[in-house]
Amino acid sequence: MNVESNHGTGSPNPPRRWLPRPQATDPETLDRLFGTSENLLPLWIAEPSVEAPPGVVEALAERVADHHYGYEVRPETTLEAFWAWMADRHGWSGEDLRTVVSPSVGTSIGVLIEQFTEPGQGVIIQPPVFTDFKTLIRDAGRRVVASPLELDVEGYRMDLADLEVRAADPDTTMMILCSPHNPVGRVWSEPELRAVAEICARHGVFVIADEIHADLILGGRRFVPFAGVATGVPACRWAATHGPIKTFGLAGVCDTLVVAAEDEVIGRFEARSSQLHLTRNNVFSLTAFETAYLTASRWFARFLALIEENVEALRSGLPDPIGLIEPEGTYLAWLDLRGLDLGVRELPGWLATEAGLALSPGHWFGRQGAGFARMTIAVPPEIVGEAVSRLTGAVARR
Ligand SMILES: Cc1ncc(COP(=O)(O)O)c(C=O)c1O
Repeated sequence: MNVESNHGTGSPNPPRRWLPRPQATDPETLDRLFGTSENLLPLWIAEPSVEAPPGVVEALAERVADHHYGYEVRPETTLEAFWAWMADRHGWSGEDLRTVVSPSVGTSIGVLIEQFTEPGQGVIIQPPVFTDFKTLIRDAGRRVVASPLELDVEGYRMDLADLEVRAADPDTTMMILCSPHNPVGRVWSEPELRAVAEICARHGVFVIADEIHADLILGGRRFVPFAGVATGVPACRWAATHGPIKTFGLAGVCDTLVVAAEDEVIGRFEARSSQLHLTRNNVFSLTAFETAYLTASRWFARFLALIEENVEALRSGLPDPIGLIEPEGTYLAWLDLRGLDLGVRELPGWLATEAGLALSPGHWFGRQGAGFARMTIAVPPEIVGEAVSRLTGAVARR
């Protein structure tokens, strides 16, 4: 393996151009979701549409060539690789924390809901927010408690007074915090995160900090791990989700992680995972996981630069009256289409048939998202250029 210093040069021949890899959506799904699949540019899934880091591709090819895919024990080095990356990028060493592997973020959240809430209890989310949270809460027989984000001229912020009221309900026992926030792109500040930790600790509300987008930080900002504020707040109970799936576009091949401070949290998570046999290692996941953290920092630097470039293209290219909510993190652009005056049901149809774009309509993320749409911008610049030109044409024809 060509191990790269996290500051270093790494894979010798990174591709000079980003090779597009269209989102893998079948025409039936596009027809069902967007009313058409004709000439549609799909930018609705939160994953990169560029080739994966070359070091990962090479390592997977080598692993395939091994011709033996039986049981495999996870070496300690996979978690070491994760923590070395976190220390290097975010100055977060993981000292005094425990880390366990989980097949997906959804699995982790599902198990944590089951372990740390009772049926019928409330779980707070902050819409507009990643759609699976609601489904996971409802499927577990718990109640969704919305504490919507507020939007003003400066962007989105948490309504901390409302959060305090929701958390104070004794029947509400958990909060799922999306940090950085999908879809609005906020990178929460230390004071905001401390306020969440304090409110939740005061009312005995367990916090799941979904930090799967942690590496995707834009504009020189800093990711603050919830762990960093929670450890200073007595009685704050929490667990965080992490992993390489969003950072390197490896959702189809990699496992994820749960990080927590309390032995009881990790102990109960591990016990349930082992009871359900969620602990089986996939040989390709082991390879991709470790190789990405060890060899792809140069690829990732270019990837972040690509996202910044694409944000700038939207900032300067979106036609009036379409606005951009400035993303502080993630590779998701939250477009403000309220000026088009289209109804909630009309908007996805207009985007698909008039602009030829499959974007995630804002109302999927909660009714607070009505009039907005989420566009994935982890794509080669020419794709963003094409999306802007399609939107410009569609607006001009209105
Ligand atoms: C905030 C957030 N959490 C979780 C996930 C999904 O993770 P997984 O596929 O591992 O369940 C996504 C995917 O878009 C996401 O944006």
